Amino acid sequence: MATANRFAKLVGIGSYVPDRIMTNDDISKIVDTSDEWIVERTGIRERHIAADSQATSDLCVVAAQRALENAKLRPEDIDLILTGTVTPDMLFPSTSVLVQSKLGVRDIPCFDYNSACSGTQYGIEIAHSLLTGSDRYENILVVCGDKMSSVIDWQDRSTCVLLGDGAGALVLSATENERENFIIDMLLGSNGMLWNLLTLPAGGSLEPATEETVKARKHFLRMSGRDVFREAVKVMESCSLEILRRNGMSLDDVDFIVPHQANLRIIRALQERLGVGDEKVCVTVDRYGNTSGSSCILAMDSLVKSGKIVRGSKILSVAFGAGLTWGTSLLRF
Ligand code: UT7
Repeated sequence: MATANRFAKLVGIGSYVPDRIMTNDDISKIVDTSDEWIVERTGIRERHIAADSQATSDLCVVAAQRALENAKLRPEDIDLILTGTVTPDMLFPSTSVLVQSKLGVRDIPCFDYNSACSGTQYGIEIAHSLLTGSDRYENILVVCGDKMSSVIDWQDRSTCVLLGDGAGALVLSATENERENFIIDMLLGSNGMLWNLLTLPAGGSLEPATEETVKARKHFLRMSGRDVFREAVKVMESCSLEILRRNGMSLDDVDFIVPHQANLRIIRALQERLGVGDEKVCVTVDRYGNTSGSSCILAMDSLVKSGKIVRGSKILSVAFGAGLTWGTSLLRF
């Protein structure tokens, strides 16, 4: 049943990165690159790489358990699991049901969505709509996770230096108290005309796996880096300004900007266009590389853990990813 006075509040946040750290020097032993090049062009110093035995659902489940603990909820209190990933454990069943089984909960709906690096924003939007549009859900788990190392082409120096593995989770709950409202506004978009800038071409229905697709390395990520860079800065600037405009807010009203962590140069270019100083911008890309859809949750979690954001802090989070997709959210912690 639709209810007028429902809002979504954030009750838990958690994240996980695997133990193994891979430095730029480690990568320079695999491809022709150097720590200097990677730091100068991307700001990345190291990333975490999952063990062979860890699949995406294993990363997601630890982040989910941490978010549930933070929320002081048990897995059985959750009544929907949304999982954002581009590296599902397998094509089907969904990674979401695998997370469900690892959490030991039964009978609730679970599904995956794929909006690539905009996963945090898309997940918040879906959860928010379901929590506020009816009284069918009380507690929703949004978990974004990717084992990007499983789709990295370790012969391609222009992409293998960029990515890392990780997962982030949020627990959102329904409330009738407007003062607890987490989501001030959301703005999502995509431009499918640019689908070919960032792809993993084979293994789907278009090009099922064959010996040829394996030989042609079509099961690895491919990217037109410069084009993605240009589009990313443009779209992150325009959607950030639009969401502020339509809420009658300026960047002075925002305590922190949490951008997708793909490349420090992209973050700094966005900052310059928005006219924001370093102290207001969250950066974790140096430690984690680009972890895809979980990157904004990982960044928010690091702000929470460091005590930089407290109850009432306002955040503008903005991301872009394969699709191209984009999304921005104005949030109140
Ligand atoms: O979530 C979305 C994910 N994707 C992104 O956000 C990526 C966006 N794009 C980027 O971050 C940047 O475009 C890259 C970091 C991928 C590349 O940086 P760039 O400054 O755009 O470099 P470039 O592609 O223009 O290449 C410059 C040079 C080339 O050599 P030549 O042709 O000038 O001789 C590349 O071959 O740098 C070379 N190069 C490298 N050299 C050392 C490319 N990768 C490397 C490397 N080490 N790892």
